[in-house]
Parts: sequence; structure tokens; C-alpha cells
Amino acid sequence: MGTTTPVEDRRDRFAHVVASLVIITTFYTVTGAYLWAQGFFELPAAIVTSWTRFLINVLTGVVLALVLAVVPAYRARRLGGALPGIVLASAIAAGMRLGLFVLAHELPEAPGILSVETISGFAFCLGAACLGFAYASVRRGERFEARLAADAAYQRELALRTLETEEVRVRRSIAEGLHGSLQQRLVIATVQVDMFITEARRRDRSEEDIAPLVALRNDLEDIRENDVRATSRMLYPEGIEIGVVPAVRMLLRRLPTGIATRLHIGDRLRKLDDPGNSEVRPADRLLVVRIVEEAVTNGLRHGHATSFDVSIDLEGDATIIVDVANNGAAVDVHRATHGSGTRRLRERVELAGGTLVLGSDVEASRITSGEVDGTALHHAHLWARIPVTREKITGLGHLPSNE
Ligand SMILES: Nc1ncnc2c1ncn2[C@@H]1O[C@H](COP(=O)(O)OP(=O)(O)OP(=O)(O)O)[C@@H](O)[C@H]1O
Ligand SMILES: [Mg+2]
Repeated sequence: MGTTTPVEDRRDRFAHVVASLVIITTFYTVTGAYLWAQGFFELPAAIVTSWTRFLINVLTGVVLALVLAVVPAYRARRLGGALPGIVLASAIAAGMRLGLFVLAHELPEAPGILSVETISGFAFCLGAACLGFAYASVRRGERFEARLAADAAYQRELALRTLETEEVRVRRSIAEGLHGSLQQRLVIATVQVDMFITEARRRDRSEEDIAPLVALRNDLEDIRENDVRATSRMLYPEGIEIGVVPAVRMLLRRLPTGIATRLHIGDRLRKLDDPGNSEVRPADRLLVVRIVEEAVTNGLRHGHATSFDVSIDLEGDATIIVDVANNGAAVDVHRATHGSGTRRLRERVELAGGTLVLGSDVEASRITSGEVDGTALHHAHLWARIPVTREKITGLGHLPSNE
């Protein structure tokens, strides 16, 4: 079930010793009270309680605890393994108890009293030490369970991170393949068609004959420019290699000139996302770009916005905050549950331990009802919080060894 650190070993010993001491003291206190009650109600009894007897019993508990602290019974996984130590401790404590009873003349004149005290003293010690061991075992079990849970969380985080890294790698290689090889083949095909067209013209073919070739050439050019390059960009946004800020900047730059954009980058993020030497992992960069992309697309599609305010900053050491606001139609949060774009993004962000919220400066109904003048307000926001340096958050890499 894993190794035990010195601190945990001390805790186990403490649990066994203290639990045994508490239990045996309770045993003897209850017995003392019982004998006292017998005397109080003048019931016939062989054993008469006294302070000396009580103190010897407490001392028996202390001796049992001391021996248990020395013998490593608490380290055993099962009771069977702990039993030799427990029996030894019980025998020493019970033997001392009997000796002190004889010396202090605490044994009444009754037949068989020696056997009764010997057996009961040993049984009490044995019972207390076994119960103390059970308590220590339960504590140890809880500790191992907590460790297993932490280990499972660690493995999950590791798997997630590996998957993310792999996804970025695959996206990148496909994007490069599209942008490089496929685009080049299309360019070559276009050049060849161009050559056919030139040749056809040189041979005085009519424009009508050449028209299908020209259409094919334009199709090839359109596929190259709009399908291949755009898909490549979608898979692996431009600028993402350099950092998250350049990638967002390039994304906003692609918007038509009639759309106003303002990009605010906090100083702390600027420092972390040093161009070319960004400390933000590519998977997290991709996520931030996807969020801005979705917010802008939604703003244009659903809100018919003409102005966007994008703000990205770092909160604490480890959380990127993204806020994309626009001046389009207000978001009706109650109706905004149908689409899949933000839901898919939210799932991804939550998987990374973050949150994603769609909303507006004030509730949409208050603007539409005229209760609030919405002209100076942002009618739609997409807020996201993404933990970026997850090592620090989960203690990844600092988990105690479970071997
Ligand atoms: N910026 C916005 N302005 C106004 N309404 C919005 C805005 N963003 C989202 N919404 C509302 O929230 C709904 C859900 O958006 P979401 O992005 O999840 O899905 P979608 O855009 O409709 O579909 P998909 O993203 O899958 O193409 C939208 O249908 C729209 O009603
Ligand atoms: Mg959408």
C-alpha cells in the first residue's frame, strides 16, 4: 500500500499508543465505578475498590502504552502481525499489575482471586491494545485512500496534458502539411493550367474554348486561398508559435475594416507571454485564441456587433482572464443555451480547471424594456478563466512517492 514517511510512522505509533491508553483507562474507570457502586449499595463483593487499586490500574495502562511505544506492533498491516507485540505488551503490563497488587496487599482473601486478576488484567490489556491497533489501522487506511485519490488526480492531469500536447502537435503537423505540401501542389497545378491556357491562346483557340480552363484555374486558386489556407489557419492559428498575444492580435487584424477592435493586454500577461519565449503552453494559447474566435464570431453572427473590446490579463500567477465584449444585441442568457459553440468551449475550459461565462453588463431584458440605457454598455461578454501553469496549482511533480 505504499511506503510510510517518518512523520506518518510517528503518527501511527502515536495513534496506537494513545488509543490503547485511552481505552484501558476507560475500562478501569468503568470497572472502578462498578466496584464503587457495589460498595455504595452494600452488595456482596469479593473485590473492594480503593484509590491504590485505581492508581495501579492506571499505571498498568501507562506501562502498556510505554511497551507499545517501543515494540513496533503498530507497523503491522494486519492484527495477526501485530499480535506478538500486543501480547508481549499486555503480558508485561498485566504482570506488573499483579505484582503491585500483591505488594500493596490489594488482593482480597478469596479463592481463585489470583487467577481472576491475572486473566482479567491480561484480557483488559489485550483488548485495549487490539482496539488501539484497529483505530491506528483505520487512520492509516484513510491516509492511503487520500494518497490514492491524489495519485489518481495526478495521473488524470498528466494524461490530459499529454493529450493536449499531442493535439497541438497533430494540429500543427496537419496545418503545415496543408499550408506547405498541399498548397504547393495546388500552386503547381494552377501554373500548369496557366501554361495550358497560354498555349491554347498561342494556338488561337477561342475564349469560349478556353473558358473551362480559366474556370478550373480560378477554382484551384479559390480552393488554395480560401479552403486550404483557411483550414490550415483554423487548425493552427497564425502567430500561436510566437505567443498568445500575437495570435489574438493577428486574429483581430483579419476582421473587416468596418469592425472596430480594441485589445487590452495586462502587463503581467505581457511579461509571461514574452514573444518567442512565451511561458504560456501552446495548448493554453490555442484555448485562449479559440475563446476570442468564438466570442467574435458570435458577436458578429448573433449580435451584429460593430465594435469589440478584448481584454486578456493574468490573475495571480496562474490564471489567464479573457473578456471579449461587444456592442451588439444583448445576450439573453436564458435563451443562450441552445448553441453548441460555447458549450463545447466551456467543456474544454472546465477540463483544464477553468470557467467560461456568457453574459452582458446588465440583464438583456432591462435594456430592451428601456429600464436601463444600454448605449454605453457592453451587451455581450464572454468571460473565461483558464489556469495556465497547472504545476503550481496541483503540485504536479511534487507528489510524495507511492512506491
Ligand atoms: N455575442 C452574442 N450576442 C448575442 N447573443 C449571443 C452572443 N453569443 C451567444 N449568443 C446567444 O447564445 C447562443 C449560444 O451561442 P453558441 O456560440 O453556444 O452557439 P451558436 O453560435 O448558436 O452555434 P455554434 O457556435 O455551434 O455555431 C446563440 O445562439 C445566441 O442566441
Ligand atoms: Mg457560436
